[in-house]
Amino acid sequence: MSYRECFPIFKNKTYLNSCSQGALAIDGQLAYAQYLRDWEEQGSPWELWVEKLEATRHAFAGLVNAEADEVAVTGSVSHSVSALASALDFHGPRHKVVVSDFEFPTMGQIWHAQTPRGAKVVHVPAAGNSIPLERFADAIDDQTLLVSITHVCYRNGVMLDVSAIVDLAHRKGAFVLLDAYQTLGTLPIDVKALKVDFLAGGTLKYLLASSGQAYLYVRKELLPTLQPTAAGWFTQANIFAMDNNAHTPSPTARKFEAGSPPVPNLYATLAGIKLIQSIGPARIQQEVREVTGAIKEGALKRGWNLVSPIDPTQHGALIALRSHKVDLLVKWLAEDGIIVSSRDNNLRISPHFYNNQSDVNRLIDSLTKHKQLLV
Ligand SMILES: Cc1ncc(COP(=O)(O)O)c(C=O)c1O
Repeated sequence: MSYRECFPIFKNKTYLNSCSQGALAIDGQLAYAQYLRDWEEQGSPWELWVEKLEATRHAFAGLVNAEADEVAVTGSVSHSVSALASALDFHGPRHKVVVSDFEFPTMGQIWHAQTPRGAKVVHVPAAGNSIPLERFADAIDDQTLLVSITHVCYRNGVMLDVSAIVDLAHRKGAFVLLDAYQTLGTLPIDVKALKVDFLAGGTLKYLLASSGQAYLYVRKELLPTLQPTAAGWFTQANIFAMDNNAHTPSPTARKFEAGSPPVPNLYATLAGIKLIQSIGPARIQQEVREVTGAIKEGALKRGWNLVSPIDPTQHGALIALRSHKVDLLVKWLAEDGIIVSSRDNNLRISPHFYNNQSDVNRLIDSLTKHKQLLV
């Protein structure tokens, strides 16, 4: 079976919306069915489910070259980052959080929620469709505690220069949190090589699972210094201690978790990550570059307004085109069986390894038909 045949949606649709939700693989369906079977046949197999939780932790760790003890398995990026925020002290000499204007709003919202706790949020503004490095250099200073950046912007596909920003932050003594939701699964990520202190992401998009599953990487040297006040029984050193009289957090990144894990999603996540690893992030990156390259070429040849950078090293698996009636364009494309999405005035076209040139041809044909909506 070819990889594409593992995704039934391609029998009926041209699916190009992985930045919102990855396509459902047969393996994902089987994983959910297995969950229901285990539940039906075994009733309450919590030992098995805790094993799945640990297997998921190892799978996430393997994807980003972390150690399993550096990974918290959570239900959303919002939870991961809120738990991290609860462990930060904004009353010392460092109280600033530098946030890029390319962040998914949950990031800005969580950091602004810390202002009653002493945090000051400093935004790094975009200059058109990019954020020049000098703007980060201007914003990061000796009072900066954390720099919170996305790997790829969910609105326009622009990729930030993570290593350069980490370098700027570390030279000033600030930590870096990388939001890798829009990249993990589409390219190799190595937290040690990138030297990020924290990394958050989830499975909904390019890791081929559903919502309700995410993770947080915390660099191991920082673990003893961070004590989240967001807590729960799955954050305890011994989950099954059942001690109502004390809080004894795990020394590992598990202290950033909360309560019962999203068990059905663990099954799907393990299946999704297995599929990604069987192809390999480096090969996926190559395949995504071929498809995004063909989309850009088709758009540029026709004079359409490409919002994402032309240079493939400066964008992710998301190509944005400007439209003056983007909601209508998404609707008309859907009528032609092409699934894409929009943010701002941008049409977002986001392929994964399962897309190919025939998808690009159908997309370009349909866009040509509706070109009056492009600018
Ligand atoms: C880059 C990025 N970060 C964070 C999120 C939100 O994650 P969650 O809903 O798991 O909190 C999204 C969701 O689309 C996203 O694209």
